[in-house]
Amino acid sequence: MAITTLLSAVSRRLEGKVALITGGASGIGQRTAEVFAHHGAKLVLADIQDELGYSVCQSIGSGTAQNDVTYVHCDVTDESHVKAAVERAIKSYGKLDIMFNNAGIVDANKSRIIDNEMADFERVLRVNVTGVFLGMKHAAHAMISAKRGGSIISTASVASCVGGAASHAYTCSKHAMIGLTRNAAVELGQFGIRVNCVSPLGVVTPLSRGFDGLSEEELEGLYGGVANLKHVTAKAEDIANAALFLASEEGRYVSGHNLVVDGGFTVVNPSFPMFQYPENKA
Ligand SMILES: NC(=O)c1ccc[n+]([C@@H]2O[C@H](COP(=O)([O-])OP(=O)(O)OC[C@H]3O[C@@H](n4cnc5c(N)ncnc54)[C@H](O)[C@@H]3O)[C@@H](O)[C@H]2O)c1
Repeated sequence: MAITTLLSAVSRRLEGKVALITGGASGIGQRTAEVFAHHGAKLVLADIQDELGYSVCQSIGSGTAQNDVTYVHCDVTDESHVKAAVERAIKSYGKLDIMFNNAGIVDANKSRIIDNEMADFERVLRVNVTGVFLGMKHAAHAMISAKRGGSIISTASVASCVGGAASHAYTCSKHAMIGLTRNAAVELGQFGIRVNCVSPLGVVTPLSRGFDGLSEEELEGLYGGVANLKHVTAKAEDIANAALFLASEEGRYVSGHNLVVDGGFTVVNPSFPMFQYPENKA
């Protein structure tokens, strides 16, 4: 392989690919859109925040070939919207290779289950579970018909692995996403379609700020404090890079996996201070 071709393969890991990103107007979805575009993907961004979505689209679009980024209004809880977003990808760019089910919401963090309202619980499940189900369903339909395989990725959370890290509804929704991911991976493997999740601990975004009601600095301090890995602050780009791995050729043999991006948060019970150096004690 010529050196320029080799360099291009390394630096443009999604060249020729088409991706649909839900929740693409903000936070992790926006950063992932920027990273995917940088790696050569054509993009459809789907969200309910239209003004923001169009402006992200415009800012990414100015750095890519014209018309390589499109925005669609899409409420992931509405099946006709999700179907239309997938169709838009195919109409605009001829196919769909990557589906990133990233849109998600949180509910108010009420510490007592008896204070939680059924309507709030169902609202969270509707976006975080039904929305992902619809994304997988319509992406699978397009990918199976095209017979070219594909990669379906969803943003779960550390709340998919442990209890006590988020509200009842949110924890329940993210656990459910893992079950759905595994089932879909089992079904779609026969078509060469991979299905995976990425699970962040905490990244400062409008969602996390709304959830904890803390300032940016306080939130970074909180996440940094509970993560096992010190001297590094998680950024949306870290999650985007995990999604990039799962979307690209590098992840070609990974399916049914929950790629946890949490600075080791979920692998340790901190009440056992087995390896605490005296000089690093709080
Ligand atoms: N930020 C974190 O610390 C963190 C941690 C773990 C998991 N996550 C997950 O990451 C994903 C992205 O969250 P974020 O932190 O970037 O938050 P964000 O609020 O910045 O982005 C979420 C996006 O989803 C969109 N959205 C919400 N409801 C929608 C709907 N019904 N249809 C279409 N779009 C909708 C919002 O408009 C928003 O643009 C979510 O699934 C969230 O649960 C985030």
